[in-house]
Amino acid sequence: MTTPEQIKFAHTPAGDEVIAGVTLKDAKRASKWPAYVDVAQSVTGAILGLFLFCHMAFTSSIQVSKDLFWNLIQVSGGTPVFGEEQVWLHFVFVGFITLCVIIHALCALRRFPTSYKQYRDIRAHVKFVHHTDSTLWLIQLITAVILTGTVFPHVMGMLTSPHDIDPNLSSVHTYHMGMIWTLIFLVATELHGMIGLYRVAVKWDVIKGRAHGLRKAMVIISLAMIACGSLTAWTYYSNGKELVENGQAATRYVPTQNWFAK
Ligand code: HEM
Repeated sequence: MTTPEQIKFAHTPAGDEVIAGVTLKDAKRASKWPAYVDVAQSVTGAILGLFLFCHMAFTSSIQVSKDLFWNLIQVSGGTPVFGEEQVWLHFVFVGFITLCVIIHALCALRRFPTSYKQYRDIRAHVKFVHHTDSTLWLIQLITAVILTGTVFPHVMGMLTSPHDIDPNLSSVHTYHMGMIWTLIFLVATELHGMIGLYRVAVKWDVIKGRAHGLRKAMVIISLAMIACGSLTAWTYYSNGKELVENGQAATRYVPTQNWFAK
């Protein structure tokens, strides 16, 4: 039996109802939590996205020299203030970034498709509408899944052994993880981070209608970050390979230039 026309079209929704959907009639009961969670997701996402630029500068310093990387580790470990490296400072800093990752992931979870059917609908929608931002959303979803599996092993290693952030030990670590794992991690990180920063800027209208230009900038910056990160990863990998082959996998780096030596 089909629904009679007079029942099907009995109510023509007003503009507000179309925009806000069924929740409008429940407006008094509506919770503010979805809004708070949305803000938390954007704030932690922006912190992590901006952190990636510092992270790139920090890790890529090894391309200049092991000394530069070693001295930067001393800076983040508080040597200029305390006179010697404070391992607990590394723990606090890595812990803060890990907390941001956890909050960000928990907030984003509510947007994940909860069944294969939902995922299939999203893909069909993206294919159908041919809308760049919808495609970017699908890339965010896929890279988020990859990051869930890759970022925690990365930060957990540093949380449990903060003292092992060292030019030699980090290189040996990259060698053991392998180039394939590192490159998958790198591409997922940079795409997710740069698309994320672009989406936050669009969502909170930071860019005031200049989405097209920003999108172009985002693509160029993502490619530059992936290129720079790949070279850096290769430097760590080849240093690590050399150390392992010479039986020096556990040898810490001894700087030739210590900026803080008295
Ligand atoms: C405070 C927290 C962090 C510190 C101190 C840190 C430090 C490092 C260091 C020393 C390396 C070089 C080799 C190695 O140990 O693997 C590295 C590589 C890497 N990290 Fe992190 N990391 C942090 C957080 C993160 C986060 C949250 C992400 C991603 C969301 C990330 C993504 C990467 C990637 C993709 C690489 C490999 C590519 C490259 O060398 O540029 N890191 N990190």
